[in-house]
Amino acid sequence: MFANSICSYPDRGHYGNSRYRGNCSGHIIKDFVETYRTRQDGLLVDPSVGGGTSKDVATEMGVRFFGTDLHQGFNLLRDDLLTAAGEEANLCFWHPPYWSMINYSGNQWGEPNKWDMSRMELEEFIEALQLSLLNIHDACEEGGHYGILMGNLRKAGSYYNLSSLVERVSPGRLVDEIIKTQHNCVSDQRKYNGRLVRIAHEKLLVFKRKKATSLAFLAVINQRANNMLNITWKAAVRRVLQRGSTMSLAEIYQMMGPFAAMRGNQHWQAKVRQCLQDERYFHRVETGVYTLAA
Ligand SMILES: C[S@@+](CC[C@H](N)C(=O)[O-])C[C@H]1O[C@@H](n2cnc3c(N)ncnc32)[C@H](O)[C@@H]1O
Repeated sequence: MFANSICSYPDRGHYGNSRYRGNCSGHIIKDFVETYRTRQDGLLVDPSVGGGTSKDVATEMGVRFFGTDLHQGFNLLRDDLLTAAGEEANLCFWHPPYWSMINYSGNQWGEPNKWDMSRMELEEFIEALQLSLLNIHDACEEGGHYGILMGNLRKAGSYYNLSSLVERVSPGRLVDEIIKTQHNCVSDQRKYNGRLVRIAHEKLLVFKRKKATSLAFLAVINQRANNMLNITWKAAVRRVLQRGSTMSLAEIYQMMGPFAAMRGNQHWQAKVRQCLQDERYFHRVETGVYTLAA
């Protein structure tokens, strides 16, 4: 159980594949479960298990578990997590790629994959992060918690505060921010010139799923309008199609209505149609009928 808002695990524990780059310590998952579990028989979900750390923790603790990853054929950006898990999660732990810090597909597993969040341009990664958080939020039961372990990175002299981004775009209520000290990083060995401050922490941001029903995520967006203003139109349309699978334009408009009202865009239906033109994410099944691109 977390004793306070700072944690440190010099030894990552015997969980999962320690050679899977970017793996996390099993101890933080254990503390997350012990601190936020509200039901002994509740389900723990991890949509990006990587080397299987969370699975081993769950087995040791006797916690019911559903875990998957892009390398197992589950795509958080295309597939509905609740449907895949088969029931609402009491807890969801997600440890996403820290943008391009480590490439997973074509490196840790398989061929380079266009849905791999570690292989995206920044703009695409941010939208993917928004979409994933909506998906994860909707997969949790009311009063359930989801924890997002995210690190920050420096690239070509700029600092990218990815954990702050998670906080801004997540639809749930932030209940805790746990700072985790990093140990044994590749960057520990690097020599930096000048006064560069080495990044030595990650953050576990813990959110609580609010009352809204799973399909009412757009209402959630309304409730948290200030935080969600930055969510892209495309992420919202993608989320609608994740739930509906194949939908007519009229059905998509209906789902997008509350979001459009919040944005105050008079020409929002044209905006939705414009989003649907992006063949990277959308496929036109027939005139006026759409699904997500494979
Ligand atoms: C930081 S690693 C997770 C490491 C894991 N916690 C462990 O201890 O081994 C991030 C994972 O996200 C997965 N991933 C990337 N894009 C994804 C997507 N679109 N859907 C699901 N998982 C994805 C990668 O395959 C990678 O295993």
